[in-house]
Amino acid sequence: MVTTELSHSHFSSIMAKPIPRNKSSSIFLSDGFLFLGGAFSALLLVWGFSSFTNPIPNDNLTLKSHKNNVVSYSTPDLRFDPPDQTFYDDPEMEYTMSVKLEDWDEKREEWLKHHPSFSAGAKERVLMVTGSQPSPCKNPIGDHLLLRFFKNKVDYSRIHGYDIFYNNALLHPKMFAYWAKYPVVKAAMMAHPEAEWIWWVDSDALFTDMDFKLPLKRYKDHNLVVHGWPHLIHEKRSWTGLNAGVFLIRNCQWSLDFMEAWAGMGPQSPDYEEWGKTLRSTFKDKFFPESDDQTGLAYLIAIEKEKWGDKIYLEGEYYFEGYWEEIVETFSNISKKYEDIEKVEPKLRRRYAEKVSEAYGVIREEYLKDAGYGKGSWRRPFVTHFTGCQPCSGKYNEMYTADACWNGMKKALNFADNQVMRKFGFVHKDLGDNGVSSLPFDYPQP
Ligand SMILES: *[C@@H]1O[C@H](CO)[C@@H](O)[C@H](O)[C@H]1NC(C)=O
Ligand SMILES: *[C@@H]1O[C@H](CO)[C@@H](O)[C@H](O)[C@H]1NC(C)=O
Repeated sequence: MVTTELSHSHFSSIMAKPIPRNKSSSIFLSDGFLFLGGAFSALLLVWGFSSFTNPIPNDNLTLKSHKNNVVSYSTPDLRFDPPDQTFYDDPEMEYTMSVKLEDWDEKREEWLKHHPSFSAGAKERVLMVTGSQPSPCKNPIGDHLLLRFFKNKVDYSRIHGYDIFYNNALLHPKMFAYWAKYPVVKAAMMAHPEAEWIWWVDSDALFTDMDFKLPLKRYKDHNLVVHGWPHLIHEKRSWTGLNAGVFLIRNCQWSLDFMEAWAGMGPQSPDYEEWGKTLRSTFKDKFFPESDDQTGLAYLIAIEKEKWGDKIYLEGEYYFEGYWEEIVETFSNISKKYEDIEKVEPKLRRRYAEKVSEAYGVIREEYLKDAGYGKGSWRRPFVTHFTGCQPCSGKYNEMYTADACWNGMKKALNFADNQVMRKFGFVHKDLGDNGVSSLPFDYPQP
């Protein structure tokens, strides 16, 4: 799978910049509050441990409220698979894109009914999916970079209790490059009926805010979330009005139908060439003739709006996925701001177990109220995406220099790693240096 190596930006695109913040930013504030609410139970645990001596079982983290209001912990039972027939026993069922999966919502529900231990937290369960090509990278440091990008996703997933799947097999021989992810997402939905959401993250994107969590409640009425700006798609008809490198898709029949329409523009389809022409005539700034998934998605949003539009959420309020070039230069100022917060808040200088990281994210959030989100903000950007710098092939867009790409990646990877390594007692003092030093007690001193 050559997911990012022939990704959109390969074609010298100028990525869209977020539109200036408008009145809808107040919506975000209320969601930010929900985000706090979501982690509130974790905070209670932290406050609790000075007054209780009740140890929290390590692998019993899902809170479950019973009729009598006593909070207990439940954990999915990984050894229980009853003999009851489910969709897995249907010989006609196939994981490939070529065979349609029908009545998926009922099938998933049936499976969940037979596996009740997965019911707690089911609506918030996320499986992160990412991957890269089946062969070694051409860039001599490509595999090393991919490893670091993957480590970052594993770190983020571990901190927030998400499962993660890395795929490096081409599941459909004709669905190469950016088309390769759709068969993987479909197979992941079927392999993980317990997951409500599949979160595709390109191999060249990384988490640069380890605290931030997806505001899932905001998306409760939607099935697909992508970073994008409506006016660029609907009015400007720009193919960079969204970015398809990171998306959140609900594990449901709507998503399967949508992916079929979406992937139907791909190279395995007899209409591939025709779609290339249609997309290019609809989105005038698309300058390469091949049909691509990003423009395809923009087309479905703009032209088949009636059919799909109301279930697609264009997230433009925060860096659901952010353009690296506008982000990397902000890292040192942001680090300084966060250090200033730690200087005044002793709770954030405290050492703690990585498992309870979310509790400290809640404490830090108190100090980030004025930070803003997205471009121009001094909040850590959530996801930094190296569009146009291809870590594996080593090719990069002519808009950039090689140094800008590789130094930017190193900085971003170390910026993110600092948020992880701190809990292991170490820090990259200089973001350009992969080496670490040990952190003194009560760091940083006020
Ligand atoms: C998790 O909690 C339940 C209910 O309190 C308990 O019965 C079970 O033994 C716990 N599991 C583990 C692994 O601690
Ligand atoms: C970083 O902060 C300094 C001092 O406030 C400011 O002059 C500079 O423009 C900032 N750099 C960026 C990239 O925001």
